[in-house]
Amino acid sequence: MASGSVDEAMRRAIALAARGLGTTSPNPVVGCVLLDPDGEVVGEGFHAYAGGPHAEIVALAQAGRRARGGTAVVTLEPCDHTGRTGPCSHALLAAGVARVVIAVPDPNPVASGGAATLRAGGVDVELGVRAAEAEAGNVAWLTSMRRGWPYVVWKYAATLDGRSAAADGTSMWITSEAARIDVHALRGTVDAVIAGVGTVLADDPRLTARNLRDGTLAIRQPLRVVVDTFGRTPADARVRDGAARTWVATAAEVGTGPDGRVDLPALLAELHHRGVRAALLEGGPQLAGAFLAAGLVDRVVAYVAPKLLGAGPTALADAGVGTIADAIDLEITDVTQVGPDLRITALPRKREG
Ligand SMILES: NC(=O)c1ccc[n+]([C@@H]2O[C@H](COP(=O)([O-])OP(=O)(O)OC[C@H]3O[C@@H](n4cnc5c(N)ncnc54)[C@H](OP(=O)(O)O)[C@@H]3O)[C@@H](O)[C@H]2O)c1
Repeated sequence: MASGSVDEAMRRAIALAARGLGTTSPNPVVGCVLLDPDGEVVGEGFHAYAGGPHAEIVALAQAGRRARGGTAVVTLEPCDHTGRTGPCSHALLAAGVARVVIAVPDPNPVASGGAATLRAGGVDVELGVRAAEAEAGNVAWLTSMRRGWPYVVWKYAATLDGRSAAADGTSMWITSEAARIDVHALRGTVDAVIAGVGTVLADDPRLTARNLRDGTLAIRQPLRVVVDTFGRTPADARVRDGAARTWVATAAEVGTGPDGRVDLPALLAELHHRGVRAALLEGGPQLAGAFLAAGLVDRVVAYVAPKLLGAGPTALADAGVGTIADAIDLEITDVTQVGPDLRITALPRKREG
């Protein structure tokens, strides 16, 4: 059992970890709190960016000698390998920490093993404290590392009757400026933004993360991915404007799926290989339908405007559902009002068999 102060320290470590969201990829977010033998907090840290010091190292530097005989409380198993920085397991041993309390084991085969190294060095190691909470804070990274392809969030905007454009094709702007600002913030937390060539041809979007008021680009831009079987993306399309990296993923490069279009699992595997852990699928309806039909969507974020159109394309095209019994069931996890619109977050329920 975790003592009161250890439990409190883990809550704090999880909050610290969240500060790295959107900037640590391809690394996880990690937070660490160091307690001295009396349970006093003597160091805190979080992993801020890939290549930068790990959470444990930041906390150890703050604590100095006061870490000796103390407890390190960390959201993810300390790494055991030398990457761009040295192994945290060794740093904790060198600092003389007596106990390490971990929320979630590291699923990355390259970096895991820190708990075993610490135990072998005589450290008391406890795993699983506030694991569900820490897991939720790192869900994209943990999911992508466990299965080898990115965590996919499908985002769309629609009217209350589910339309993504009017009968004449006009769609700017269905949702409010507040909702669009929210979308740009969402783009800033992922490693890739994915759209079908249909959307590129129809809307010529930039797909960058930017300040909508003055147009300035966010420092960190997601990779722009256009799913384009035959390479129809025009040479002067805005996604090719050089403001961020762009990958026009063609069937020739990625491979062809059973419908003769870009093979989506192969696309995601390649994105994982390129360091993408979280991806925002921005549609349009056909590509979103194909992702959903293949069970490749992990989370749905819908921006719903208080408008009715009664005609016009819907936000989602064929997703392989022919009868009500096959409907893709969602569990709503959050509803937030953004300006006049609603942002609904939902998780597709796992299908039987
Ligand atoms: N409301 C919203 O949130 C939202 C968001 C985005 C777009 N839109 C709207 O959606 C409209 C465009 O719709 P759309 O459905 O034509 O565009 P889309 O889904 O962006 O693109 C569809 C195209 O993607 C290509 N593709 C490649 N591999 C695929 C695969 N495995 N599965 C499915 N498609 C694949 C196909 O063309 P190839 O076979 O040539 O590759 C397909 O025609 C625009 O009018 C836009 O305004 C709305």
